[in-house]
Amino acid sequence: MTLLEAVEVRKFYGTFCALDGVTLTIGRGQFVSIVGPNGAGKTTLVNVLTGLLAPTSGAVRFKGRDVAGLDPVRLARLGLARSFQLVHVFPGLTVAETLAVAVLARRRRGARLFASLAAERATWDEAAGVAELFGLADQLGRPARTLPQGDKKLLDVASAFALHPEVILLDEPTSGVSTADKHAVMAVLVEAARRLGIASIIQVEHDMDIVFGYSDRIVALHQGRVLADATPAELQANDEVMATIVGRAARRA
Ligand SMILES: Nc1ncnc2c1ncn2[C@@H]1O[C@H](COP(=O)(O)OP(=O)(O)O)[C@@H](O)[C@H]1O
Ligand SMILES: [Mg+2]
Repeated sequence: MTLLEAVEVRKFYGTFCALDGVTLTIGRGQFVSIVGPNGAGKTTLVNVLTGLLAPTSGAVRFKGRDVAGLDPVRLARLGLARSFQLVHVFPGLTVAETLAVAVLARRRRGARLFASLAAERATWDEAAGVAELFGLADQLGRPARTLPQGDKKLLDVASAFALHPEVILLDEPTSGVSTADKHAVMAVLVEAARRLGIASIIQVEHDMDIVFGYSDRIVALHQGRVLADATPAELQANDEVMATIVGRAARRA
């Protein structure tokens, strides 16, 4: 079953064409990695897929509904969430508060956020539960901005998970994380998705060990076009695409 789809999406920045007719579908239960060199259009694609940027032409649909221009909270309630909003929006909040904001956003309490926060035992428990899943349980009272970079990134991802979306998009979730820790982060993501009932993960990722190790499908972008959309095994059998998209790094994977 298709959850998220892009149909012939073009995105221009002025006269520059960043996405040049991208069509793809994301099904329930898939872990999809978007790869490609810098400037390929990966972040633009994530922004278009999550309604942040309207495509210049083409369509983006989530569960059959046009998502262009929907704000992140409404999208999350529909079941589509992404990392990287809340930590940056509320730098003064603690880890627990950051996660509680996401929990409350999901429960439609956004308007009376802080009034309801104090009263809501269940909210704090749930925030603590998500923190636990992401190894942040010891940091609950700490201001988010004082976390080390890797933990900030985790908190950012954890906030998106706390929205309990069906589909989650992560733009480079392990950037700034040491190579040694990347596998630990991915293991946490996969386990958290399973525990929270998140059906599909779409991530932008550079590390080919991670990409080939965790993806059901890899979408390779190059100059705004989909060069390949295949399983890891299919991609690895295609020397030409491997060379174009991932170069030497992939051959080691
Ligand atoms: N806001 C913008 N205005 C103009 N050009 C942009 C903007 N954002 C991205 N671009 C350009 O679009 C191309 C794709 O960018 P991006 O989607 O960030 O690629 P990636 O994430 O794959 O590195 C790049 O050439 C980039 O310089
Ligand atoms: Mg990018």
